[in-house]
Amino acid sequence: MRQSLVRFVISGICVSIMLVASASAWAHDERAGLPVVTAFPLVDLDGKVWDMNSNEAGRVRVFVFLSTECPVSNSYSKTLSELSIKLRRKGGVEFFGVIADPSTTRKAAATHAREYKLSFPVLFDASQQLASVLKVKVVPEAFVLDAKGVLVYRGKIDDAYRDIGRRRPNVQTHYLSDAVDALLTGKPIRVAVTEPVGCVFESLPANSPKAAKVTYNRDIAPIIHARCMNCHRPGQVAPFALTNYEQVAKRGRQILRVTTRRIMPPWMPTASHAKFVGDRRLTDQELNLLQQWFDGGRAEGNADDLPPAPPFAEGWRLGKPDLVVKMPKPFTVRADGPDLFQYFVLPLDVPEDKLVAAVEFLPGNKRVVHHAVLFLDDSGAARKLDAATPEPGYHSFGGPQFAPSGAIGGWSVGNTPRRLPNDMGRYLKKGSDLVIQVHYHPTGKVEVDQSTVGIYFVDKPVAQSLSEKGKLVGSIWMANYQMDIPAGERNYRRTARYKLPRPVTMVGVVPHMHLLGKSMKVTAALPSGKKVTLIDVARWDYNWQDEYYYEKPFKLPADTVLEVEAIYDNSEDNPSNPSSPPQRVTWGDETTDEMLFCFFLLTSDKVEDLIHVIHHNVQYDLRQPRAKVKD
Ligand code: HEC
Repeated sequence: MRQSLVRFVISGICVSIMLVASASAWAHDERAGLPVVTAFPLVDLDGKVWDMNSNEAGRVRVFVFLSTECPVSNSYSKTLSELSIKLRRKGGVEFFGVIADPSTTRKAAATHAREYKLSFPVLFDASQQLASVLKVKVVPEAFVLDAKGVLVYRGKIDDAYRDIGRRRPNVQTHYLSDAVDALLTGKPIRVAVTEPVGCVFESLPANSPKAAKVTYNRDIAPIIHARCMNCHRPGQVAPFALTNYEQVAKRGRQILRVTTRRIMPPWMPTASHAKFVGDRRLTDQELNLLQQWFDGGRAEGNADDLPPAPPFAEGWRLGKPDLVVKMPKPFTVRADGPDLFQYFVLPLDVPEDKLVAAVEFLPGNKRVVHHAVLFLDDSGAARKLDAATPEPGYHSFGGPQFAPSGAIGGWSVGNTPRRLPNDMGRYLKKGSDLVIQVHYHPTGKVEVDQSTVGIYFVDKPVAQSLSEKGKLVGSIWMANYQMDIPAGERNYRRTARYKLPRPVTMVGVVPHMHLLGKSMKVTAALPSGKKVTLIDVARWDYNWQDEYYYEKPFKLPADTVLEVEAIYDNSEDNPSNPSSPPQRVTWGDETTDEMLFCFFLLTSDKVEDLIHVIHHNVQYDLRQPRAKVKD
């Protein structure tokens, strides 16, 4: 029972995982000789937002800088379209044209792309965010980034031009296509750098008087579309829409303040450490543009530059799930009283074992659903508990009352569903039921909820995944149950340490505290003596809990010590403090109680190692002193 309680808490509350390799955002390539960072989204001529920050699918990326005027650039239109179609058929590659000429409007660029029948997405980079990172010299110039974002080829598309105006009748060497083919087949790239021939690329001088010229339509709208609009549009979580010039301009000062303080977009892990999938932090360039736009008088600019609104998928954020299950009956939540923890059993009827790559929870009634935790039960115990009570599901405080056979994630308002990287998944045994624990906050009137869960499977058969290294993901956790925070205490510090008995691969991290949480830092002390920061949340915000997946999962050797340090603020100064005046707070499930958990998602080269670590961790947790019972 105790074990089940622990498991329950683990799986459900928040699943976050963080990316370690701090170097990953700035990869350095010896051959092509450039550090590359693509930590910002770009918007194409159709308004579609391309998230250059994440590359979970491990795609090769090709950028070819073009212009509307340069004859050399234009002469390559057909070659590039054919190449892009060929690569699309092959798969594994994202191919982009880029127009980064500040004197061209988006509309003119779009007309150009249509006239020249460009069959690939063309990014409009008038603020030269990407161009300045890649240090573009001429148009056309091609850049190939490998799956890790390292620049592995830059230069000519092929050897058609020896010099401007000197075009060979026959092309002999297809540098760009050869570089991509080599990458896709795991062969070395023979020529990593060539001197491109074309028209000189007009880069914007740094700190130029162009400051005054930053406009909403050209420079700011792409940032708002890519970074803010998914939440700041009607029907979404943010309190007001940011979908047009007026809405953004009238809040200019406030936007500047919350973005420079990094309150918006909400993203808890602080900079400087490892890279996570879906990182929402704005780049310095984006912040500069916002500042320049504001200082320059919030100009609207040329309507021809305004990108169309991005298409947003309604409903499932990860696309159509492989399996959709709904609470069997609507559940009625009483108008008031304490929080309610209700468990619902949803039979899955999967005919064979599966790996679960992602889950998405759609609350039936957002007003009353606070969060949900998704457990698995292969014993039928939950069905019996459900059958023993007259209402839909069953009520329980402090755990599901059975030992779950697994857990596949959770949901809260601030959580973004994501697939585990690299075809990884959590185990789902055939015949298992999904048991969802839903935490309801009564709203003052009677509410009804019937929530839905979408499940996304790893495409491959389980046996195949298990025969490969590092595909099965399991979770462990660390906690400190000795929680007794005096009223008024500003810096209440709790720590936890756990030594890994076997080598593992760290896939993700999920810190969890409640309203008094102030900061949490998680480090790994390697046997070599080196320390790496796994996640650092310098300003905890209960509303924005997430599962953080490392973009590049990384190995930790046996005997690595995981360390968690959490600080709590139970003073009046903590704006989230639920009590005024502050009250003594101890460990517990309710939002007004406190917790210290950090969950880790792990995989391993050998499945036995992962299973050993999971069992070892359960035993370790059972030895931890438990919370004092409330006086
Ligand atoms: C993941 C969803 C999400 C994203 C992305 C997001 N916001 Fe927000 N934003 C919110 C929510 C929710 C609130 C309300 C927060 C609250 O009430 O504490 C908010 C509040 C704000 C506020 C008001 C803050 C205040 O109280 O002064 C501003 C201004 C704002 N957002 C600007 C932005 C801008 C600009 C971006 C993009 C650069 C952005 N937001 C991206 C969800 C989001």
